[in-house]
Amino acid sequence: MATIFKFKNMKPCCRILLPSKNVGVPLPKSSNFSSNPNYFSASRFPGSFGLRAILGRTNSALASTWGQSRVFSSSCCFNFSKRARAHFVVARAAPDLRNFSESVKNRVNDKNCDRIYVKGGINVKPPPEDEGVEEGRENVRKNECSREVGKEETEVEKEAWRLLRNAIVTYCGSPVGTVAANDPNEKTPLNYDQVFIRDFVPSAFAFLLKGEGDIVKNFLLHTLQLQSWEKTVDCYSPGQGLMPASFKVRSVVLDDDKLEEVLDPDFGESAIGRVAPVDSGLWWIILLRAYGKLTGDYTLQDRVDVQTGIKLIINLCLSDGFDMFPSLLVTDGSCMIDRRMGIHGHPLEIQSLFYSALRCSREMLAVEEGSKNLVRAINNRLSALSFHIREYYWVDLKKINEIYRYKTEEYSTEATNKFNIYPDQIPHWLMHWIPETGGYLIGNLQPAHMDFRFFTLGNLWSIVSSLGTPRQNEAVLNLIEAKWDDLIAQMPLKACYPAIESEEWRIITGSDPKNTPWSYHNGGSWPTLLWQFTLACMKMRRTDLAKKALDIVEKRLPLDGWPEYYDTKNGKFIGKQARLYQTWSIAGYLTSKMLMEKPDAAALLLWEEDYDILENCVCAVSNSNRKNCSRMLAKSQILV
Ligand code: GLC
Repeated sequence: MATIFKFKNMKPCCRILLPSKNVGVPLPKSSNFSSNPNYFSASRFPGSFGLRAILGRTNSALASTWGQSRVFSSSCCFNFSKRARAHFVVARAAPDLRNFSESVKNRVNDKNCDRIYVKGGINVKPPPEDEGVEEGRENVRKNECSREVGKEETEVEKEAWRLLRNAIVTYCGSPVGTVAANDPNEKTPLNYDQVFIRDFVPSAFAFLLKGEGDIVKNFLLHTLQLQSWEKTVDCYSPGQGLMPASFKVRSVVLDDDKLEEVLDPDFGESAIGRVAPVDSGLWWIILLRAYGKLTGDYTLQDRVDVQTGIKLIINLCLSDGFDMFPSLLVTDGSCMIDRRMGIHGHPLEIQSLFYSALRCSREMLAVEEGSKNLVRAINNRLSALSFHIREYYWVDLKKINEIYRYKTEEYSTEATNKFNIYPDQIPHWLMHWIPETGGYLIGNLQPAHMDFRFFTLGNLWSIVSSLGTPRQNEAVLNLIEAKWDDLIAQMPLKACYPAIESEEWRIITGSDPKNTPWSYHNGGSWPTLLWQFTLACMKMRRTDLAKKALDIVEKRLPLDGWPEYYDTKNGKFIGKQARLYQTWSIAGYLTSKMLMEKPDAAALLLWEEDYDILENCVCAVSNSNRKNCSRMLAKSQILV
């Protein structure tokens, strides 16, 4: 059985090659895959179509895999004498995407497809927008022109662009992403020679702001195909809809000595610690929206396969579990901090990305009968999540004082200390650290557990996405300003503050030598976070802060070789194991620069307060629930 999917606007012969043990077709002879009984060239079986890869587990027999990577193959073949390492691959012939949408339509009555079917997703008109947005985009285009004419790039900018372009990865001759790091002197690239989904986001923003949308479009479409990969870790398959953490373009040799390029994703099955890349799908959705906003090309998000991709990701996030909270429950290392750092549970970074991905999806999903329930679920979740984070994650001086005086072991729905937080949990550093003005969202909340560490990305993205209230958003920036020497100092910005040390470090990180105190994720400083900081500052009209941070980066980063991260309390040293020429450090700088120069473009990437989300509460429908609804009681607080 073989499937080749051809994609609209892509090179003609891109193929998906799938591993499967349930195939009964003869082996190709004399190929690099001859040791693998599952390799079938798509071209040999042109008539046999399969929708499994995109439609999910419609055929469980076929879905079983051996845990090997499936590989996308392109038709760009070269004669190649040196044999590349073989992969387990099985191909099934595939329809052209236009036919694919037809096939989906034909299967509308198939129950298994109900969840993901999108009617009329292709070539539908862009959603109506208010004039302000259209005007904003027009200004962006004008800005682009005026910038081209008016402003010369500085030497640092030129150098950064050169490096960013050098980091571009092509697949079948088209740019599809950027490698994580591109240090010519590095002998052991590990997986830094891959395209990471999260790392590509600042690169994508830089290209979009420069008016170069193709690479972003290619990236979105190719990663979308990887989403449907049948992935397994020790015979267990994580949910359909998961996006990979990264992918690599590999070369494989065919039986006729021709070389094919293939996309080889990593869903965590090769990652250190086998961490699940929960943030990848959320970033993918956020980037998809940004692509539409900045290019004006809404046909991409309206495509049936793209609509399906959004639904798969959101369905996976919204699927029922045992959880009691509206926040997303994940394992340790499921986001930018992709090693054990004690952030399992409900880490803020995931919540803020989840919240903005929900908002993006609500905006982008085609309004029609098939998506009605999903949109309703999204609205309910948005509303519950926003309340939960605003109410329970927020700390400032006043709140810490309240926690300090908490009664514990309260039983009832009216408890003040709902999560049974013991006041002794308030760390000593926090008592002294919390400034008079300002506050922040804590890192994590679980029963009897508040993680009081300050996680920068989660807080910044809460501002950008309006997960925090306007007053909270302002207060977070006040705190960063007041604690500049701790959070920024010699290099913006700390991934997390403070570092965990001694016995706590041993227990929480499992004695991780990379995450020693004030290094890497554990209190290290990450220049890439500058772009999120810039966006947050612009939203809250605090460009003075962004400018100050940008100046530091601009002076130091090129001299130091654009490192991945910095060590020590004040970010004085280049990180112990930091990669040089780290792409998202370079792209973060360029994106910040361009955002500052193009406030109209920046405005398109932000979310303002949505009062419907605040009003919407499922408890409102029933009087008995209403009585116990803590949101009703706390409404005055969440609206500020
Ligand atoms: C490190 C970072 C992760 C990043 C990857 C590639 O693992 O923790 O966030 O995506 O490097 O740069």
